[in-house]
Amino acid sequence: MYNKINFEKILINSNPPTEEPDRQYYFMAKCRERIKDFEQKNSRLPKACVVNMGCQMNARDSEKLAGILKEIGYLMTEEEQADVVIYNTCTVRENANLKVYGRLGYLNGFKKKNPDMKIALCGCMMQEPEVVEKIKKSYRFVDLIFGTHNIYKFPELLYTSLQSERMVIDIWKDTDKIVEDLPCDRKYSFKSGVNIMFGCNNFCSYCIVPYVRGRERSRNPEDILAEIRRLVADGVVEIMLLGQNVNSYGKNLEQPMSFAELLRNIEQIEGLERIRFMTSHPKDLSDELIQVIKHSSKICRHLHLPLQSGSSRILKQMNRRYDKEQYLALADRIRREIPDIAITTDIIVGFPGETEEDFLETMDVVQKVRYESAFTFIYSKRTGTPAAVMEDQVPEDVVKNRFDRLLKEVQSIAAEKAAKLEGSVQEILVEEINAQDASLVTGRLSNNSVVHVKGNPAMIGTLKKVRLAQCKGFYYIGEDIKEEDNEE
Ligand code: SAH
Ligand code: SF4
Ligand code: F3S
Repeated sequence: MYNKINFEKILINSNPPTEEPDRQYYFMAKCRERIKDFEQKNSRLPKACVVNMGCQMNARDSEKLAGILKEIGYLMTEEEQADVVIYNTCTVRENANLKVYGRLGYLNGFKKKNPDMKIALCGCMMQEPEVVEKIKKSYRFVDLIFGTHNIYKFPELLYTSLQSERMVIDIWKDTDKIVEDLPCDRKYSFKSGVNIMFGCNNFCSYCIVPYVRGRERSRNPEDILAEIRRLVADGVVEIMLLGQNVNSYGKNLEQPMSFAELLRNIEQIEGLERIRFMTSHPKDLSDELIQVIKHSSKICRHLHLPLQSGSSRILKQMNRRYDKEQYLALADRIRREIPDIAITTDIIVGFPGETEEDFLETMDVVQKVRYESAFTFIYSKRTGTPAAVMEDQVPEDVVKNRFDRLLKEVQSIAAEKAAKLEGSVQEILVEEINAQDASLVTGRLSNNSVVHVKGNPAMIGTLKKVRLAQCKGFYYIGEDIKEEDNEE
């Protein structure tokens, strides 16, 4: 468990320790000396900004980077005009990638005004050798590049960069190491992501994640439970367990443990109110898990179950290892056992070789499962994946047409489903003040839908019962219910 580091005790003039995380604590202490120099020279503390560009997994990594920077003594800011800026990148689709290059030019403008500024790039995109080559060649002003496997080494890398004018690059191909006990600066005081596993072994043929995140590794259950207990003691009421395929959690542990069993243990933690997880691969979703969700009072009524395609032929090409019938049967079982659960999904349109018939199979699954919500993606070719060299890439106009039809269907079903809850009384976790109207707060239902209701900042992080007075398609306007109802 992470305890505050006692920097007074670290001997910064001796050799660095070889053990982790002590070695990183040592470099944090060294960086702190540099901050003192900075403060003397500039009569202010340096500012740092971490920009998250990826999924929840990346968001959690960004919190770790921010935690380290804060501990070193940086003032955290959301403005990119800072003394250290880190882009934590994503590369799951091409457009995520292009965004980074565009924004780097803009960052360079700041650096020209502040030559001591450090620009760092990390995350999934940096695990691709071509990307690093391109940055080395065309973006010479970048100071530090590191990857997903050595993120825990950030203090050491930052220190190296602060000591040098050269571009520092440290990328590892893979790792079997999990370093615990580093600081973390949470974005929300009342909810937090918790990694339960890293990497992915599934190699879906379109997906780059296994190449940039490495092989699947599960954290020890004791470490996970200790982290959650500590978070709860620190005011967290909702956790999101994170992994690319949480349903295969624990299979490779010395003492194997199923995901369902892990959930049962987490459920016991007193003070924890809500448990979410992401992502569930349909091929590994067990009946044991369905039962655990069904009988739990803390696991939220929301299951994200990526479909990707409804065509068994395409699913085979995608290496998803389930077919249309198996997916439908699974969705049926879940809906039967847990009738109030929201099922959401991810769908890719335009996978190589996808015909109109294949696409109609996807539409058919959408109509049968009736998702509460779905993320729809246009297939993006990722160099190095098997699908990138498949024949019959689908023409852009055909993909666009299918994408529009799918989106329309998904949205109309989602609105119909949302309307069903109109008028009912539900519990929300209040998350923030509404960005448009400060007299409103925004909260989330157990099924992940968003509700806006009259409120004030004191309500943030608390659970509250509201009546879903009006359904607005994707969200609700809630209204207060009588106090006594709130206390049941
Ligand atoms: N591990 C998760 C998904 C992580 S990536 C799972 O298996 O469900 C999130 C989503 O991005 C995927 O579900 C998929 O729908 C989409 N995606 C991944 N690679 C893609 C690609 N090459 N083109 C378009 N969408 C992609
Ligand atoms: Fe990618 Fe498939 Fe792994 Fe998800 S399960 S991260 S889609 S390879
Ligand atoms: Fe996540 Fe993007 Fe990496 S989706 S795992 S940040 S490639």
